[in-house]
Amino acid sequence: MSRLAGLMRDRIANLAFRVARNRRVREFVYELRNRGVFADLYQHDRMLHDGVRMEAYWQGISRHISEGDVVIDLGTGSGVLALFAARQGARVHAVEHGPIIDAAREVARSNGANTIEFHKENSRRLQLTEKVDAIIHEQIGDALFDERVVANIADLRERLLKPGGRIYPSRLRLFVEPVQLQEGYRAPFAWQQASHGISFAALEAFGDTQGHGYVYRTFRPFPFDRFLCDPQPVLTVDLHVVNDADLPKRIAYERPVVREGWFDGFAVYFEAWFDDEIGFSSSPDAPPTSWATPLLRVSPRRVAPGESIRLELTADDLADPATWRWPWH
Ligand SMILES: C[S@@+](CC[C@H](N)C(=O)[O-])C[C@H]1O[C@@H](n2cnc3c(N)ncnc32)[C@H](O)[C@@H]1O
Repeated sequence: MSRLAGLMRDRIANLAFRVARNRRVREFVYELRNRGVFADLYQHDRMLHDGVRMEAYWQGISRHISEGDVVIDLGTGSGVLALFAARQGARVHAVEHGPIIDAAREVARSNGANTIEFHKENSRRLQLTEKVDAIIHEQIGDALFDERVVANIADLRERLLKPGGRIYPSRLRLFVEPVQLQEGYRAPFAWQQASHGISFAALEAFGDTQGHGYVYRTFRPFPFDRFLCDPQPVLTVDLHVVNDADLPKRIAYERPVVREGWFDGFAVYFEAWFDDEIGFSSSPDAPPTSWATPLLRVSPRRVAPGESIRLELTADDLADPATWRWPWH
């Protein structure tokens, strides 16, 4: 390759890298992908079949939404939450940016619900001639914030929620817990392995060239064996007040080990609360839900009480797990 061609290639690579890291570009790509992910019934089957989720939303909406309320259902999908609110006597603006909204309209019509107005657009562009009493949503990703719940809710809250208006669920808690996986699911890095006398130690040199997916794995169901420390949330947010800029760029702790075992990585999960009593969790030791559980892989090692485990997680954007970094080997 000539010097000039080499220079051009480096410039283009540099530019592509900067474009890919740009927040607006990432959000645009995210919106396109999200619309596609929820476009057909594949995801909706699983979500409607998730008894933990459905029961919590039914209880939460039945308790907090009442006759005469005007409500936004952010990301209505199959329409289920809008229908729950309509059942309580609410008038609902159901907003959905994907084609699944046509299915939701049909579900509402066939259930005789006539107090739901459907808006086929992204919530950031939703315009209404009135402000609402409450926002309901299920914008919760496997890594809690990765369906842009904070940015999307903050936008609607500032523009379209009445002063003192309510958001359900509103209290979200993120957990990043050291775990032991079930035997058989433990996966040492390739360079720690050997087979029939062949060592793969030479592969360590390639460790740093692996993509994010090499160390950020999601499991459904999660092959959970045990927590090694006593679980504590690393972050709690209240959607009535939080903004995207409040999400931390660094999460760190040092915790005592309380259970002996293999430290295989950090399990990422959440709790979402409607109030002090009604909520749900994607914890790997709670009843299974439709959410997958991400594992932040580390080099597996045995730990025992008396030792401690440190987490040092940095995130350019906590809502985008592709930007998460932690020492993993
Ligand atoms: C996790 S699903 C939940 C669907 C439904 N509310 C439920 O509980 O079964 C999230 C839905 O929100 C939609 N969505 C995500 N972001 C949105 C946005 N900013 N504006 C409108 N719809 C959005 C997705 O297309 C998807 O259908």
